[in-house]
This record gives sequence, C-alpha cells and structure tokens, in this order.
Amino acid sequence: MKKLNGSNSLLAGVSTGLGHALAYDLSWSGSTVLITARNGEKLKKIAESAKTKYFPCDLNRESDLLLEHFSREIGEIDNLVVLIGGYVQDSILDMKGLDEMLESHVRTTLRFVEKCVKKMHPGSNIVLVSSTQTMKTSSSSGLSYSIAKTALNKATEVMASSLIPSEIRVNAVAPSSMMDEFVPDRDYSRLRKIGDLQTPPEDVASVIKWLLSPESEWVNGAVIPVDGGYRLR
Ligand SMILES: NC(=O)c1ccc[n+]([C@@H]2O[C@H](COP(=O)([O-])OP(=O)(O)OC[C@H]3O[C@@H](n4cnc5c(N)ncnc54)[C@H](OP(=O)(O)O)[C@@H]3O)[C@@H](O)[C@H]2O)c1
Repeated sequence: MKKLNGSNSLLAGVSTGLGHALAYDLSWSGSTVLITARNGEKLKKIAESAKTKYFPCDLNRESDLLLEHFSREIGEIDNLVVLIGGYVQDSILDMKGLDEMLESHVRTTLRFVEKCVKKMHPGSNIVLVSSTQTMKTSSSSGLSYSIAKTALNKATEVMASSLIPSEIRVNAVAPSSMMDEFVPDRDYSRLRKIGDLQTPPEDVASVIKWLLSPESEWVNGAVIPVDGGYRLR
C-alpha cells in the first residue's frame, strides 16, 4: 500500500469545512489531490488555499468526464473520499427530505464509487462520510438523513466485503456536528473539549487521513465514530 506522500487522492463533494480541511491536510502530506463538487467558485478558493487541483462537476451527470480528466492529468486513483452531503430536517409527520437524502447520500455516492472502483488497484482506499446520527439515541427529526446515512454504513461493510479480492479497503467516518469553516494552521484543539457536540473539521480530517495511510492497513469495513464521545452523553 502506498504512503500518502506520492499518492493520488480524489475528494468528491468538497465544501468549505471537512472537504477543505482534508484537502489541505492530504496536500501537505505530499499527496496530489483533486477536489470536485458543482460550485466552481468555491472549489477554486479551496484549491488555492490547499494547493490542490480542482474540477467542477455534477457527479450525477459528469462523473465520466471527471474520471477521464483525473486519469489524464494525475493518473491512478490511490485514495477516494466521497463527502457528498446535504441535510433536510424532517420527521415521519412530513418526510419531505426522503428523495433528496437518498439521492445524495446513497444513490449519487454509490454510483460514483461503482465507477471509481473500476479504475482503482490493489492497495487503494475508499473512505465515505456517515454521521453519528446513525448511532446516537434517535431524535424525532432528521429521519430521512438518518436512514440515508445508516444505509451508507451498511454499504461500507458490504462494499468492503466485495472488494477484499481486489485488495481495496472501504471504511467510513461518522462525525457529530462540525464547524462550518476550516481555517488553515490554527490551534483547533483549543476550540473544543471532549464530549462537545461540535468539533472543528480538522478532527475528522485527521481520522480520514489515517484511514488512507498504511498505518490503518488492517482496518477494513469499519464505520468509525469521530465525535469525542458525544453520542454517549
Ligand atoms: N457538517 C456537519 O455537521 C456534518 C456532520 C456529520 C456528517 N456530515 C457529513 O460530512 C460530509 C461533509 O459535510 P459538509 O457539511 O462539509 O458538506 P455538505 O454541504 O453536507 O456536502 C458536501 C458537498 O457535496 C456537494 N454535492 C452535493 N451533491 C453533489 C453532486 N451531485 N455532485 C457534486 N457535488 C455534490 C455540495 O457542493 P456543491 O453544491 O458545490 O456541489 C456540498 O457542498 C457530508 O457527507 C455530510 O453529510 C456533516
């Protein structure tokens, strides 16, 4: 399995918090990183800050173009992280988010992974982003989001099992609530204490980075809560 230094990383569904923090961290670790999402202006700013490449696209319509671009400009995919998100607050009294949440967190994510896997190789890695909302005693809201992320947890396990013969690992992180913005090089540990609901995105980015590194080689099919223990309160 490759070290991060010299590897190629594709980050899909990048936004100003976790996506930015992870792009920055991987880039400084010597990985060649390409970030993607639909909003080109936002991507450009993140790419300048994190020193990455970027390619705006809608993963539902343009993923083939993206993968051709990645293969031409960068090479093989060693690390794939899918952060596609969105949140609709709903409940069984009005499940207004059901289609949207299943579309982004499950269908778009898994269809994209299906395409990427064909271009990945033994030793490469996939990390998905779930939520501790799948693990904490349920609240009455966020029903569609919770069930979509729970489906992603199971998909992580089943995909990891399917990809054992291909020697491709699949894991997920399950963060609690994250602060919206990433600020490079700040002392982020001062911004939270253990058990807090909210965490800076750096806390989650560092666990994803570990999952992409040879140090976690024996972790496969795991969904790791990254919440400082908040789900246990
Ligand atoms: N923020 C939190 O507190 C929190 C907590 C637990 C888990 N999570 C999970 O962590 C991940 C990152 O969260 P986040 O808050 O940083 O981001 P987010 O806003 O939930 O979603 C990430 C990005 O996905 C992109 N996206 C959505 N559909 C897409 C499509 N069809 N094609 C391409 N890009 C698409 C959007 O960017 P564009 O509009 O530019 O396409 C969006 O900014 C998500 O999976 C989220 O569910 C977040």
